[in-house]
Amino acid sequence: MARSPNEGLHVGLIMDGNGRWAQARGLPRTEGHGRGADAVRRAVEAAPALGITTLTLYAFSADNWRRPANEVSVLMGLLESFLVRERTNCRRRGVRIGLIGRRDRLSPALVRAIETAELATRDGPRLYLRLAVDYSGRSAILGAAAGLRADEPCDERGFLRQVNRACHSDPETPPVDLIIRTSGEQRLSDFLLFESAYAELVFVETLWPDFGGEELRRAVESFRRRERRYGGLPSTSRRLGLQNSA
Ligand code: IPE
Ligand code: IPE
Ligand code: MG
Repeated sequence: MARSPNEGLHVGLIMDGNGRWAQARGLPRTEGHGRGADAVRRAVEAAPALGITTLTLYAFSADNWRRPANEVSVLMGLLESFLVRERTNCRRRGVRIGLIGRRDRLSPALVRAIETAELATRDGPRLYLRLAVDYSGRSAILGAAAGLRADEPCDERGFLRQVNRACHSDPETPPVDLIIRTSGEQRLSDFLLFESAYAELVFVETLWPDFGGEELRRAVESFRRRERRYGGLPSTSRRLGLQNSA
């Protein structure tokens, strides 16, 4: 599933470090989540000019339910107010909002806010903003596999569509090109596992509330300097005709 260099980029962001940002300032962890919402706005604003056409933000993992009830409730409240406040802005800027993940464990009010935002922004042509909430990459793969039929062959592209459907994404969403994780942690934590087969990974020390458009630009620039080989040879070897030699 190699991508053409002229296609828009799909960037995934693992927005980590809100708790540590707050704790470093003697504040409750939930303050960090509040400041994290501002960083989301900055990333969404900066993305289209950097050639990003799909932006997937990891907002709440299926495993984040293990956190204290108060923290979960603050996170859900922030998500709801983000959707209510930003849907008009997003619509104006041509940003289409979509939620990927399970919805059956979310409150009815939050589900309403999601559906309203999705409907209001559905024609947004500039950026597809996917918010991953109650999301698990393993569950998406399991959901896709459960729909397979032994008598119907399925190639990688077809399976990707099924993975997208299993998490309520637009089925045509491409694989992720670049995954950025903030806060110095270097793992995927169940994010876009099938879609990231050939993703480039960028890990930055910055804690999520301090992340901004300039850091997003630097990460994309670092991505553009890399050579994606998809199992082939470096382009210099290709030019020398070595690609198909043993
Ligand atoms: C990311 O920040 C937000 C969510 C996972 C919801 P964290 O809350 O994980 O912050 P740290 O990792 O504890 O600093
Ligand atoms: C991953 O961060 C999930 C989100 C950013 C929403 P976590 O902080 O939950 O991940 P782990 O527990 O450190 O792997
Ligand atoms: Mg964390």
